[in-house]
Amino acid sequence: SQPKTWSDRFESALHPAIARFNASIGFDIELIEYDLTGSIAHAKMLGHTGIIELQEVKQLIEGLEQIRREFRAGQFNPGVDAEDVHFAVERRLTELVGDAGKKLHTARSRNDQVGTDIRLYLRDKIEEIRGQLRQFQTVLLDLAHEHIETPIPGYTHLQRAQPLSLAHHLLAYFHMAQRDWERLGEIYARTNCSPLGSGALAGTTFPIDRHYSAEELGFSSIYANSLDGVSDRDFAIEFLCAASLIMVHLSRLSEETILWASKEFSFISLKDSCATGSSIMPQKKNPDVPELVRGKTGRVFGHLQALLVLMKGLPLAYNKDLQEDKEAIFDGVKTVRACVEAMTILLGEGIEFRCDRLNSAVNEDFSNATDVADYLAAKGVPFREAYNLVGKVVKTSLAAGKLLKDLTLEEWQQIHPAFEEDIYRAIAPQQVIAARNSYGGTGFDRVRQALEEAKALLQ
Ligand code: ARG
Repeated sequence: SQPKTWSDRFESALHPAIARFNASIGFDIELIEYDLTGSIAHAKMLGHTGIIELQEVKQLIEGLEQIRREFRAGQFNPGVDAEDVHFAVERRLTELVGDAGKKLHTARSRNDQVGTDIRLYLRDKIEEIRGQLRQFQTVLLDLAHEHIETPIPGYTHLQRAQPLSLAHHLLAYFHMAQRDWERLGEIYARTNCSPLGSGALAGTTFPIDRHYSAEELGFSSIYANSLDGVSDRDFAIEFLCAASLIMVHLSRLSEETILWASKEFSFISLKDSCATGSSIMPQKKNPDVPELVRGKTGRVFGHLQALLVLMKGLPLAYNKDLQEDKEAIFDGVKTVRACVEAMTILLGEGIEFRCDRLNSAVNEDFSNATDVADYLAAKGVPFREAYNLVGKVVKTSLAAGKLLKDLTLEEWQQIHPAFEEDIYRAIAPQQVIAARNSYGGTGFDRVRQALEEAKALLQ
């Protein structure tokens, strides 16, 4: 029969199915390293304040480090009878060091303990993801460097709009990632606050030193209110919000990559190392990586939604509902990490831009029409008038199966006497791009500067 988990208030053990239902050990084992670190800091604080003997602190630390070694060696595998990682550790600790182990939980509750663990965990993961974003940004910069003068059609409404420097297009994603990186930094700061010492909900009767344990753990502040300390999960919601935005950005790039790899666009080719085939159609080469990233985006949004609903209307302070935060957080972390990594590899070595196709693409459309209107406007024709004139030219050219560059100078001058020989240069795609040198624009010289500025952001 099952051993009892609880105090002698209870006569019998949990129903086995309820024990399984109640247990979080199956997933919160993920927190074990942080739980051990948090317990060591708590033990030191108990010694520092004279609440337990220094000799006992020494035993506790040795026992906790022993559990760490066992875990790392794959020898610590608690079952559902342990309920959660906190009980599992405490039970093993008592086996290892005897009575001193039973003193670890003095002036502490699993409520402030789990809050501490999750913050320690998320702090680490936020830093890891920020590091990955830096690598992603570096790959984008490298790629942009290679393609400053490579043109790519620019779209609005997925209709050809104006041609762009490919580097400019890539730098747009660089800046999204930059904001993601900054956002995670801000969330790190709010996550880096210690709830330890909040007790179950009301604080403790012991003369604890919360600043001491917070400092041991590298927290930069402590929760001012014990109820808030044990029941706040805003930092996790903020994290999943930032994670969702990272996924939004990756999914946009994914979608473009998928389009670009299609026969219809043919702007990139996929390298074998990052593409997959079909079990029936031998000719297929599929962009599974960006498709998966696009698909996994929904999953991260789901975790954000799950935590928002979990917290809505939850009365103070701790409620067991909060145990449900973990799988959302863990899977959110895991998914974002895997997606940033995959996209970094895909962009770094999995695709090749087809410059031939990109060059011919920008030469076979009307995306230089704005430049004709600008040409006239620069010569004093009111812009709206010029715009209407060019609209008419586009209509007749389309009907005649011609492009703007095919019109003779006489034809241009019939449209408006202000046209001169230099119209041909003005509407050549390279010039159309080069001319947009306004700050933040796609002009090649501007993009060269933008690349320098972007590089400086990584310093
Ligand atoms: N496994 C629990 C959780 O993840 C730990 C805290 C339990 N506290 C309690 N009073 N039941 O939330």
